Amino acid sequence: MKTRITELFGIEHPVIQGGMHHVGFAEMAAAVSNAGGLGIITGLTQPSPKDLANEIAKCKDMTDKPIGVNLTFLPGFADPDYPGYIEAIVAHDLKIVETAGRSPEQYMPMLKDAGIKVIHKCTSVRHSLKAEKIGCDAVSVDGFECGGHPGEDDIPNMILLPRAAEELSIPFVASGGMGNAQQLVAALALGADGINMGTRFIATKEAPVHQNVKDALVAASELDTTLIMRPLRNTERVLKNDAVTRIQEKEKSLGADIKINDIMDEVAGVYPKIMSEGDMDAGAWSCGMVAGLIHDIPSCNDLVGGMVKEAEDIIRSRLSQFAA
Ligand SMILES: Cc1cc2nc3c(=O)[nH]c(=O)nc-3n(C[C@H](O)[C@H](O)[C@H](O)COP(=O)(O)O)c2cc1C
Repeated sequence: MKTRITELFGIEHPVIQGGMHHVGFAEMAAAVSNAGGLGIITGLTQPSPKDLANEIAKCKDMTDKPIGVNLTFLPGFADPDYPGYIEAIVAHDLKIVETAGRSPEQYMPMLKDAGIKVIHKCTSVRHSLKAEKIGCDAVSVDGFECGGHPGEDDIPNMILLPRAAEELSIPFVASGGMGNAQQLVAALALGADGINMGTRFIATKEAPVHQNVKDALVAASELDTTLIMRPLRNTERVLKNDAVTRIQEKEKSLGADIKINDIMDEVAGVYPKIMSEGDMDAGAWSCGMVAGLIHDIPSCNDLVGGMVKEAEDIIRSRLSQFAA
């Protein structure tokens, strides 16, 4: 399947694996890229630029296909060495960066001077237009359904994607809630040039996470995610668990007075315990509503290849009959 996104990134299928904290290691990115999609290493999961350089080198040993790195500019608990991370990316001659969170404007000259293509992930049309204006090559339009940070506008993809199509000139992918072939076709129909998936890629054979995490996704329904940190204007969609219940009780009792420190134990530094050790109640972890559509744990090759093949079948058979 050829789209503006496959052309832009030199990939076979218009399917991207979004950066995921403590999931987007070399194994994950290489498996997605080897499947013909675009695998992305999560920059900030690596404690230092040197560690990121090592992770990129490891990934390049596992695939000769294009790979990218995610740089998340969130209101973080620390102040990462972003220029150092970019230098590591440039030193390894990677040509694709997914940015997210705050605008990448400050770092665009550094990225562009190195010939890097930038896809910025954002949750609104206005932020997408800003990304286009500052020279991003593409946008990942992240709807309210998404796992992670859906922003504060709460616009689902059925509205957000066609709105983005009305306004944008650069290509964009549909992100948030994507997990099967029907949705890929729908995303294309709504004006996107491909899809970005997070949650769905965690439930794959190659995802370097504990089996408990994969099993939790298969067991979860679309009703099992919830939002936290809204009072802090840092809303995150997570899978419901004991830690999330504690957070929400504090949010209720403290109201507008809540500070990040009040919930630090449940949100900071918890990912290794969940993703590596499989302690599913250790804290809050990002998860999308697409959990309701996850019923199996395929290889990335079967997932991506299967989705694209089925999407092509849907377009050729089911959809063409309506145009007759
Ligand atoms: C466990 C997990 C961790 C994530 N970590 C990050 C991250 O560090 N940076 C980022 O830009 N997006 C992160 N995301 C968001 C994904 O890249 C992607 O945009 C999102 O998952 C898309 O929605 P979906 O889960 O419905 O597919 C994360 C998502 C999940 C599920």
